[in-house]
Amino acid sequence: MTDSTKPADSGSTGRPAGGERLLEVTDLVMEFPVKGKGFVRRTVGKVQAVSKVSLHLDAGETLGVVGESGCGKSTTGRAILQLHKPTSGSVKLRGRELTTMDADELRGVRRNLQIVFQDPFASLNPKMPVNDIIGEALKIHGLWDTAGGSESARGGKTAAGLARVGELLKLVGLSPEHGNRYPHEFSGGQRQRIGIARALALEPEVLILDEPVSALDVSVQAGVVNLLEDLQERLGLAYFFIAHDLSVVRHISDRIAVMYLGKVIETGPKDEVYTNPRHPYTVALLSAAPEADPRLERSRQRIILTGDVPSPLNPPSGCRFRTRCWKAQDICAREEPPLVDPAGGTAGPHLAACHFPVDDPQAEIAAVARGAGTGPVPDPVGSTQ
Ligand SMILES: Nc1ncnc2c1ncn2[C@@H]1O[C@H](COP(=O)(O)OP(=O)(O)OP(=O)(O)O)[C@@H](O)[C@H]1O
Ligand code: SF4
Ligand SMILES: [Mg+2]
Repeated sequence: MTDSTKPADSGSTGRPAGGERLLEVTDLVMEFPVKGKGFVRRTVGKVQAVSKVSLHLDAGETLGVVGESGCGKSTTGRAILQLHKPTSGSVKLRGRELTTMDADELRGVRRNLQIVFQDPFASLNPKMPVNDIIGEALKIHGLWDTAGGSESARGGKTAAGLARVGELLKLVGLSPEHGNRYPHEFSGGQRQRIGIARALALEPEVLILDEPVSALDVSVQAGVVNLLEDLQERLGLAYFFIAHDLSVVRHISDRIAVMYLGKVIETGPKDEVYTNPRHPYTVALLSAAPEADPRLERSRQRIILTGDVPSPLNPPSGCRFRTRCWKAQDICAREEPPLVDPAGGTAGPHLAACHFPVDDPQAEIAAVARGAGTGPVPDPVGSTQ
């Protein structure tokens, strides 16, 4: 992996200049009903998977989305794509509201907004040859006969769609001959390249990458990350990059959003968030990330969070992190902290949702490691929603 500078403009691709707002997500809520037992199966509760999440994505940039398992990363991605119909909130792609579109309109929009899934094997139809898997979207959108395969690739004989599939395979480091094979004939890394080629078939501007390398062998992860960076530079793509691995997210992202129990609790430019985290959860999360250098790893202090993540069926009142936070005070149970610039502004690039943001992360880690801190606020009666 090389630390690349993200392109401001993709030049000959005709893509928009970097910085242009592509995706605007405002107060997104995604709740899943929980049905009771019995014949009638009434709704007895709701999983609050995503609660008032606001995010944006600009042309050519990567937003890394991190947080513990179950915090709502994938659900946010799927709700943006309208694969889950959001309970409320707004998702705008190039200013067009997606949440109120019908199926036909959404099909058109999806040309510009595609997803790559975590498990490349489960997401590729095992009964289809790769040419059909990648070409399917071209056929659905009526582009098979006109897709932009170059004349030389076509040799004057090959169907435009097939030539385009060949070009896409080359774009992701495979060869057009691979198009006749089936998914089981490929390695995990190659299968993920096929998933990426499929996502690129309609020339989208935005890719939602849901843990695109987590299921891969460590030895092939770097190759796929490098490919994604290379494609971003060549095609001017914007990435919504969901991942567990904090070092991969740091490497690939321009900005970071940290999620906890359905909420974005901190967001900002990646270096700001990594070197100067303000939310206690981010401090703990980053302190627990392993160091590549074994000497640093041995001497490093970390914050081990105690207690389980509360249930999204009944999240804590006020700050959702309070049941695990060593800085929690009474106000944390009463009032939900807004996502604001801890320095006082409300629209700064580095925002955190905490009543008592951390000033000095290293000193905080050392203090918590020594056992300092007030500890979680006990759950007062009626404090959960
Ligand atoms: N279709 C669904 N029906 C009911 N609950 C769901 C559904 N999809 C997700 N959830 C719940 O929503 C919450 C968020 O899930 P989500 O898959 O978005 O988390 P995640 O951050 O992507 O986790 P992971 O890192 O494990 O992939 C979880 O509590 C999950 O159980
Ligand atoms: S100090 Fe309070 S508001 Fe801040 S993270 Fe801890 S519990 Fe939440
Ligand atoms: Mg997920």
